[in-house]
Amino acid sequence: MPLKICVLVGSLREGSINRRLAEALIHLPQAREHEFVHADIGSLPLYSQDQDEDSPASVVALRELVKSCDAVLFAMPEYNRSIPGVLKNAIDHGSRPWGQSVWKGKPAGVIGASPGPIGTAIGQSHLRMVLAYLDMPVLDQPEAYIQWKDDLIAEDHTIHERSQEFLAGWMKAYLAFVQKEIGAGSPQPA
Ligand code: FNR
Repeated sequence: MPLKICVLVGSLREGSINRRLAEALIHLPQAREHEFVHADIGSLPLYSQDQDEDSPASVVALRELVKSCDAVLFAMPEYNRSIPGVLKNAIDHGSRPWGQSVWKGKPAGVIGASPGPIGTAIGQSHLRMVLAYLDMPVLDQPEAYIQWKDDLIAEDHTIHERSQEFLAGWMKAYLAFVQKEIGAGSPQPA
């Protein structure tokens, strides 16, 4: 079944390696039949509970986008061993008003790249903890902690052969996980 997937890149940096990684994944052959929509998290204001009931248009747009999607794909850097503030801000916006979280039940994949050898592992563990609280099923295995090298992904989204199999395998597992989760959520035929 073709899926609609919301992509959240946890970096606003123009040359973001995590955006490059996300783009490479969504340009893989096995992703071609699916629709991927980037969430614009950079235009969101800082979250304030005062605006829960009368939220700015950018917040409403984020909530509507996530609601319209089957699943979520997070590609994020690690900032000071945790989740970048811009991504946590977007997650907080989507989680409110209380009882109306748009995240609940959305299957998620988490991946991240960093020039350092732990490849966002600690940041991802923080994100997984948040997603568990938000009641999002998350792909557990394979984990993907990507140590960035400048030749990893070419301008045309081609992945270097040393990582091609691993990243294609991760994307395949993520898409299969989403399909399974969505199927599991469907009513059983009588
Ligand atoms: C970093 N960086 C970083 N890297 C890492 O492996 N662990 C960390 O805890 C941090 N902390 C951190 C904090 C802040 C504020 C910045 C700006 C950077 C380095 C980071 O991995 C690197 O800048 C990546 O290129 C960021 O990803 P994008 O923006 O290129 O996608």
